[in-house]
Amino acid sequence: MGKVAVVTGGTRGIGEAISVALNAAGFTVAANYAGNDAAAAKFKGETGIAVYKWSVADFDECRTGLAKVEADLGPVQVVVNNAGITRDTMLHRMKPEHWQAVIDTDLSSLFNMCRNVIEGMRERNFGRIINIASINGQKGQMGQTNYSAAKAGLIGFTKALAMESAAKGITVNAVAPGYINTEMVAAVPEAVLQKIIAQIPAGRLGAADEIARAVTFLAADEAAWITGSTLTINGGQYCA
Ligand code: CAA
Repeated sequence: MGKVAVVTGGTRGIGEAISVALNAAGFTVAANYAGNDAAAAKFKGETGIAVYKWSVADFDECRTGLAKVEADLGPVQVVVNNAGITRDTMLHRMKPEHWQAVIDTDLSSLFNMCRNVIEGMRERNFGRIINIASINGQKGQMGQTNYSAAKAGLIGFTKALAMESAAKGITVNAVAPGYINTEMVAAVPEAVLQKIIAQIPAGRLGAADEIARAVTFLAADEAAWITGSTLTINGGQYCA
């Protein structure tokens, strides 16, 4: 069996592509999901990849979910913190629940997941943590004070944990996708989406596979000296 990799939000969108790519690269993948049982069952049927249901926004659910993965598959050696949500609205209309839901799922999830694997990774002197950021955490985006703050925070978390972990053989990196052809981006109003595509020098949305390729690269043993970095993949929309 290959190294065990947990991908949060791993049954749909970018996460699905990451799960499939890591599986193809020889990892034993556990795809976490929070709510969509039908999509998870379809994913499992099509790929044969194990699925695990818990909310990354909840510390105790992460602890028990990860313990179950380890009991079933073995020690977790790779974590891809991919699960994320949007609650887009201008700040002057934003409700506390719009703010809190995004911070809990997109940022506090990093603490909830990493805190529950980091001791084991340190003991074993090996780990790969890959956090999925966003172009909008790098440049800001109107309608996304919550999301931009969470994703910018994710990049700071990545840098700090990378420094703490380098001497223990654990790398911590971020991948910052631009606008990818997923359900999340499809939810942007069509007229706004056309404006966004016009801002992408490559002239198109990205594909989930184009992000998965970078995650597989960072998860490899050979990527041992890459840590604390943010890999920007956005068709040239923002050069960070
Ligand atoms: N790029 C360019 N123009 C944009 C824009 C963007 N990203 N977002 C909004 N605008 C423009 C609108 O086209 C509109 O222009 P006009 O006045 O010329 O028509 C103006 O800003 C105001 O927008 P709305 O009329 O839509 O105003 P609203 O108050 O109804 O909604 C909004 C504002 C919530 C920001 C809405 O426009 C919206 O949802 N925009 C998309 C925000 C976005 O990019 N979200 C990313 C989701 S995908 C994701 O998050 C994944 C990832 O990591 C990249």
